[in-house]
Amino acid sequence: MTRGRGNGATPLVQLNGVWKTYGTGPGALNALAEIDLDLRQGEFLSLLGPSGCGKSTLLKCVAGLEPISRGTIAVKGRPLAGPPENMGVVFQRDILLDWRTILENVLIVSEFRGRNTKALKERACALLARFGLAGSEERHPWELSGGMRQRASICRALLDDPDLLLMDEPFGALDAMTRDDLNLELARLWQETGKTVLFITHGIQEAVFLSDRVAIMSRNPGRIIEWIDIDLPRPRNLDISETPEFGEYVRLIRHRFTELGVFGGGSPCAT
Ligand SMILES: Nc1ncnc2c1ncn2[C@@H]1O[C@H](COP(=O)(O)OP(=O)(O)O)[C@@H](O)[C@H]1O
Ligand SMILES: [Mg+2]
Repeated sequence: MTRGRGNGATPLVQLNGVWKTYGTGPGALNALAEIDLDLRQGEFLSLLGPSGCGKSTLLKCVAGLEPISRGTIAVKGRPLAGPPENMGVVFQRDILLDWRTILENVLIVSEFRGRNTKALKERACALLARFGLAGSEERHPWELSGGMRQRASICRALLDDPDLLLMDEPFGALDAMTRDDLNLELARLWQETGKTVLFITHGIQEAVFLSDRVAIMSRNPGRIIEWIDIDLPRPRNLDISETPEFGEYVRLIRHRFTELGVFGGGSPCAT
């Protein structure tokens, strides 16, 4: 199984034999088992798997928000000790604070760190403009659509210009059109900035569209069972999803999940 070694460079993030167990004794649950993963500098890697397979757990472990039970995680070759510097995180729920304006929400982390400069404010405004939110700086989250809120969350994650972006089903709660739109914007951002992205999704099309590689996960316990290189040309636009090559990747991945019983094909009760 390829884990992405081979281009010689030290991976930005490296997981070796990582296990994560919740609880102890007979009720203990292995959310992650024997995870080996290299996230290369500048790559877009998606973790794709059914609900409950440990995707969010893996992301929280990499983010330094959840301790691991066994194995090692290294960032830039150094053992992880708490949240890595220069990391931005976007969650499925946008966790914007309703009583703060959009601009104040984007600036929140730097404010906590005591950095409240004019330059940061200008950067926040530029990011909001880039993500189509010019004119919404002084509005509150409850005045915005789900897509706009998630755009604001992405701006917040990008404020410090992180090398590493961790995204946990950021578009999972959005309607299909808004999701397509944000996929395209994220693909453009990645192309322009060369950031390293660990993206979590249960959307096969989304994973194929965005990624350089897709790690397929199974559950109970959460394992990576296959790596798939997405060898489609870049830059990508939405038309690529109409091509036979794209369809082939989607079919291949869907087939894997059917074999795993995720789509009911493997159910012993199927008639
Ligand atoms: N804090 C927790 N305590 C106990 N069990 C948890 C906790 N977080 C997640 N789990 C369990 O771990 C498994 C993986 O969860 P999660 O990482 O959220 O999966 P996913 O993001 O793929 O849906 C699930 O069975 C879930 O119920
Ligand atoms: Mg999750």
